Amino acid sequence: MTTIRHYLQFQDFSADEYAWLFQRAAHIKALFKQYQPYHPLTDRTLAMIFEKQSTRTRLSFEAGMHQLGGSAIYLNTRDTQLGRGEPVEDAAKVISRMVDIVMIRTFEQEIIERFAAHSRVPVINGLTNEYHPCQIMADIFTFIEHHGDIRGKTVAWIGDSNNMCNTWLQAAVTLDFNVHVSTPPEYEVEPERAGLYDTTHYEQFDDPMDACRGADLVTTDVWTSMGFEAENEERTRDFQDWQVDADMMAIAAPDALFMHCLPAHRGEEVSADVIDGPQSVVWQEAENRLHTQKALMEYLLLGKAI
Ligand code: CP
Ligand code: NVA
Repeated sequence: MTTIRHYLQFQDFSADEYAWLFQRAAHIKALFKQYQPYHPLTDRTLAMIFEKQSTRTRLSFEAGMHQLGGSAIYLNTRDTQLGRGEPVEDAAKVISRMVDIVMIRTFEQEIIERFAAHSRVPVINGLTNEYHPCQIMADIFTFIEHHGDIRGKTVAWIGDSNNMCNTWLQAAVTLDFNVHVSTPPEYEVEPERAGLYDTTHYEQFDDPMDACRGADLVTTDVWTSMGFEAENEERTRDFQDWQVDADMMAIAAPDALFMHCLPAHRGEEVSADVIDGPQSVVWQEAENRLHTQKALMEYLLLGKAI
């Protein structure tokens, strides 16, 4: 029996596999821009399970699967038996007998791992409390479109050590670049939670300005992630000095990019002049979710037989 490949965290793929995916994403994007039909996944079905809200992830996976010739089914906790306590293992066994590939957005990483362990088809992480690998794949593809290889470059992560931050840290190990992290005290990176077996690719800075100095990319995310809403008031207080603003962009490299996975809160984690300014590539970054995830689904279902 062949082993099923899943995409549960960034380090599930090697640097060579990312090189392949980025090349395929560029090709698939070019076909899309030329309105050229491309249907390698005809008759394939994607199940998308959402236990948290989404705009971009749902849209990019659903539109992407249609564009590849297949179809997508949207499921959420409220309308399925998952919301009434059906074990994840049972759901995995049933769902994976009816579709070809599954994407899940849920809470603890452990939930998606249990699902994958009982799935007969590839499972993709569409965001957990710990990781958001599809987003970082799109972000790095966006970086490459502007600046070429990310190897040896510096990414400044400003704000919460959340699922996005953890995934950047994993990506830095896999693709050999550096992350400068600045979080408020008591929100520091937890290497074990980030799944890091190598901590040599990141450095922590108390002052966010120091983290941004000379960076090729400055990036941030909401102060309060989904599932942590009860901490919102306290976080809003604690993160006041971690807003990416024009001073931080000015101390970064002159051609530094700004990214944000969205949705964003102008006036909190980023100032309006930065996210709406000339160094911001957030709309291209959002669009690239579509192209990179099409490459991902193609790879998980067909391998390199293209
Ligand atoms: N960036 C991202 O994953 O957005 P959604 O929550 O809208 O899917
Ligand atoms: N860190 C955010 C990302 C949203 C796309 C969250 O988990 O809510």
